[in-house]
Amino acid sequence: MKTKKIILFASGSGSNVENIANYFKLRKDVTICCVLTNKSDAKVIERCNRLGINALFFNRQAFSKSNFILDMLRSLEPDLIVLAGFLWKIPEAITNAFPNKIINIHPALLPKYGGKGMYGMHVHNAVKEAKETETGITIHYVNAHYDEGATIQQVKTIVNPKDSPEDIASKVHLLEYEFFPKVIDELLSKQ
Ligand code: GAR
Repeated sequence: MKTKKIILFASGSGSNVENIANYFKLRKDVTICCVLTNKSDAKVIERCNRLGINALFFNRQAFSKSNFILDMLRSLEPDLIVLAGFLWKIPEAITNAFPNKIINIHPALLPKYGGKGMYGMHVHNAVKEAKETETGITIHYVNAHYDEGATIQQVKTIVNPKDSPEDIASKVHLLEYEFFPKVIDELLSKQ
């Protein structure tokens, strides 16, 4: 049996990275090669240290001004590249090199509340401000445009009038923890 390889990209806390790592911890058929981050002080690095996961920081030069990350990804031959709270746009050279192999999670029901600048609490604040009665998660393929690739799965949750943006964030995170690893697992099993 060939071991399936995942590469994760993250920019922040990395709670999704930790959740995905825990989900696959006992699985011999799936391995997390490494976590790549564009923030040298991202909390995700501490989590990787604790979990014993390879973590690497890269800058703009390596990511989009040269082919360094592209070449590294190619040499690692991942089955899936997973953006888990990663905030830079993926360069076209990378999306072209990995068609249908890069997925992202967005903390809202795209196409609502997507696009540049719409991440993390910015999304939940906007949902609250618009008095939405529901929000959720969108797991989608990544193309060269922010938050526009084909949807793989959306899951909704109710927003109550009393919910603060933080309450909304908690509800959305719970959905992320439940559904993101399962979707990754399903996609890997189809490869
Ligand atoms: C997650 O809620 C994810 O959906 C969101 O960032 C958070 C990262 O949390 N991603 C975006 O907003 C992408 N536009 P985490 O670092 O604790 O996993």
